[in-house]
Amino acid sequence: MTIDDTAGRGAADTPEILDDEAIGIDRPGLHAEAGELPLNEPFQSVLARNIERRSFLLGAAAAVPVLMTTTATFAPTEAEAAPRRLTFTPIAPSTADEIVVPEGYEHQVLIKWGDPLFADAPNFDKNNQTAEAQSRQFGYNCDFVGYFPLESSNRALLCVNHEYTTGSDMVRGYVPGASKAFADVEIAAHGGSVVEIERTGSVWRVVKSDTYNRRITGETLMRISGPASGEPLMKTSADPTGTKVLGMLNNCSGGKTPWGTWLTCEENFNQYFANNGSTADADIKAAHARYGVTEGATGRKWEAFYDRFDVTKEPNEPFRFGWVVEIDPYDPTFRPRKRTALGRAKHEAATTALAADGRVVVYTGDDQQFDYVYKFVSNGKYDPNNRRANFDLLDDGVLYVAKFRDNNKGVWIPLTLDHPKLKGKFSSQGELLIKTRLAADMVGATAMDRPEDCQPNPVNGRVYLTMTNNSRRTSVVADTGSALANPRVPNFGGHIIELTESHGDHGAADFRWEIFLLCGNPEIDLKTDEADLTPGLAANATFFAGYADASKLGKIASPDNIAFDNRGNLWITTDGQPGNADIGNPNDAMHVVPTSGAERGYLRQFLSGPKGCEICGPEFADDERTVFCAVQHPGEDGGYPNTISTWPTGSQLPRPAVVAVRRKDGGEIGV
Ligand code: FEO
Ligand code: CA
Ligand code: CA
Repeated sequence: MTIDDTAGRGAADTPEILDDEAIGIDRPGLHAEAGELPLNEPFQSVLARNIERRSFLLGAAAAVPVLMTTTATFAPTEAEAAPRRLTFTPIAPSTADEIVVPEGYEHQVLIKWGDPLFADAPNFDKNNQTAEAQSRQFGYNCDFVGYFPLESSNRALLCVNHEYTTGSDMVRGYVPGASKAFADVEIAAHGGSVVEIERTGSVWRVVKSDTYNRRITGETLMRISGPASGEPLMKTSADPTGTKVLGMLNNCSGGKTPWGTWLTCEENFNQYFANNGSTADADIKAAHARYGVTEGATGRKWEAFYDRFDVTKEPNEPFRFGWVVEIDPYDPTFRPRKRTALGRAKHEAATTALAADGRVVVYTGDDQQFDYVYKFVSNGKYDPNNRRANFDLLDDGVLYVAKFRDNNKGVWIPLTLDHPKLKGKFSSQGELLIKTRLAADMVGATAMDRPEDCQPNPVNGRVYLTMTNNSRRTSVVADTGSALANPRVPNFGGHIIELTESHGDHGAADFRWEIFLLCGNPEIDLKTDEADLTPGLAANATFFAGYADASKLGKIASPDNIAFDNRGNLWITTDGQPGNADIGNPNDAMHVVPTSGAERGYLRQFLSGPKGCEICGPEFADDERTVFCAVQHPGEDGGYPNTISTWPTGSQLPRPAVVAVRRKDGGEIGV
């Protein structure tokens, strides 16, 4: 069967050919000398955020008023840069099977797995779930949450990823590969949802409507765009053109563009593809192995029903996954684009900023032990006055990978065919991008401790990178580039790096960096001086940006998703606290920490999730009177009906859900 689609090949522009290695080399538009951000320079990330929030032209299918543009420049004074103090009373770590929020706050469960998105969609029936119903209902294991405003501050779209399924937690008697009907439910439970929401008073509700609401699943038709579109390695029996693909899989976190589109990132796509051990072509087999495609059967065994999930039958199909997908949430007819110029990895997030000259920068991680941090810089410039003109910016540009050095400097290495270490290694830029990890290996990128989220701070312009943990780090000596950037051996608690682009320009070729947090229990071994952060630190050493009062600090492990409020406070959600004995094995959580001022590093816990979940998101409404988060896999691996959680309905069938948290008096979150 071929994919039924009449659309032609997406734009396949040739990426910029650089005539130097950009290893600290100055080029027009690129600053070479890293330094502190001058406070009198405009912060393009703030521009991006403002425009993102208030100025976009809506998609052709939507007839909704256009919001006003705010002025673009932002020049904070020292006083403006100082954050207003966080005043909520922190909560204690919890192991209760419930959402815990601070005194004076409350939460609501906004939408959960199986809730209908359309007026004519069926209600959830746990005993008779079908793929048809699931494809009209909210999917499983919600992760990324993106708030996209509509014309009123009381209406918005939420874009939510549905990362993966755990069949044993979804249905009684789950046996992988035993039921095609249930495999189809699982495929339909993947992908993402666009959900219209409306607020009355302080309470949000889902608007069941087809104006904007949309389900994207593991079978939604997508276009492959950018340099890898049409590449021989992208061609399959179902798609001899290599330009279109069914579905997106394992979409973890994501981001938003200045022109109001949703970037959603395919993470552990390898777990859907079976039998790499029998792949005939040695090069293809090696490439799949570098991304972890299994030699044998997959956990879900979709390969029993669909050839494309068996690499002995369709060896190229995995190459069509592992991308950042761009979707216009304001146009429910928009065909999603896999933007291959951004590289192929187990992307956690893709967050945008603008370079000083208006080019678009996208920061991404690759969530694997010893993998890398990337950024893409477009060749074209952002046009704030013509939304549509920006729609293909992410098809044409240069992908860089980060090399951290122990002098607290670092460089962005371009992954292009003319790099001396890449010359002759790939037949085309498209092939290089399909094998992004292999190219990054060749240029000596720094192996990190599971780089997950990466977010530019709208107040100070610095980029924050979460390293979730790395239990396999046994040595810093053999590392590439920097031992200091991942200093703990092993790294059970995870850490956060603060990266300052040269001259505050997100398009820069090099950067400075600091350790911002070494997560864990500050009562065990709290370092307060950066000079004490040395390669090979003990696993339970902690650092909270120099904050010295261990008695006030919260305990945190495995930072995963992050977001900033408009004061530059960093909100952190976790995935892995229950496995961290140093902090007492509490449930996963949401924390917040100031990034400047006297309380820089003073981390406090804001929310605790129910048993067995991770907390994802977080995401603020534009007025910052609501913070949303996703409660992913509550009760995971208990096995229905013996799950360890009954959240949120009290039933033994826990259901992943998005939660809205607000202050009881309606005020801004945190202050
Ligand atoms: Fe899906 Fe990197 O967490
Ligand atoms: Ca994650
Ligand atoms: Ca995670």
